[in-house]
Amino acid sequence: MIQVKELKKSYPVGKKKLEVLKGVDLEIEKGDMIAIMGRSGSGKSTLLNILAGLDLADSGTYRYEQDQISDLNLDELADFRRKKIGFILQNYALIDSKNVFENVALPLRYSKESDDEIKEKVKKILSSLDIEELKEQAVDQLSGGQAQRVAIARALIQSPELILADEPTGSLDEETEKEILALFKDLNQQGKTIILVTHNPQVAEICDQTVYIRDGRCLFTR
Ligand SMILES: Nc1ncnc2c1ncn2[C@@H]1O[C@H](COP(=O)(O)OP(=O)(O)OP(=O)(O)O)[C@@H](O)[C@H]1O
Ligand SMILES: [Mg+2]
Repeated sequence: MIQVKELKKSYPVGKKKLEVLKGVDLEIEKGDMIAIMGRSGSGKSTLLNILAGLDLADSGTYRYEQDQISDLNLDELADFRRKKIGFILQNYALIDSKNVFENVALPLRYSKESDDEIKEKVKKILSSLDIEELKEQAVDQLSGGQAQRVAIARALIQSPELILADEPTGSLDEETEKEILALFKDLNQQGKTIILVTHNPQVAEICDQTVYIRDGRCLFTR
């Protein structure tokens, strides 16, 4: 499903270049559930952003099924992201000025669906995550676990093939973490491909495979 070859990414820092990814090779099959681990600053979020089509690498190739993502222009990249990817960011990235319903409905506002269809879809996903009663609540008044679920609901609302999650359980208590992980496992069993960044070996344990980022490259373990 995903084939990444010799991917490089650096950031300008003052007059110097910080080389974060120095030649990442990665292959992911459809239906895989993968954990990405590595030290803070090793480039996990950088890699996830590139896989999500939120950022472009400096060089190397990224193929997603038949599409050469590394060759797309910005419009095509946005299209790819919208159609294929559900992304859960490290800090939730919810919009404080909107309530739970509007945050989850947001991706659908770009499609041509009617208000009734949108309502129905949002209701379904909120209830599957057990947060339907929070529909009208302002997102800045949610607990961490609730905000995390809202971020997950928003990522799933368009039934993406690939779910990318950057430390989705990083700031949760153990019980809530377990629930969220069970949810990911469920989605995986329904056939979704999932890549999640984590610092927790127990989270990695429930994945099929762990990818370590070290010195700008990927190392695999089962
Ligand atoms: N936009 C940017 N401009 C400059 N440097 C950046 C930028 N984004 C990330 N970096 C640097 O690139 C390196 C990798 O960052 P990244 O966010 O990918 O790390 P990470 O592995 O996700 O870390 P963490 O576990 O702390 O989330 C870090 O040294 C960071 O400071
Ligand atoms: Mg990160």
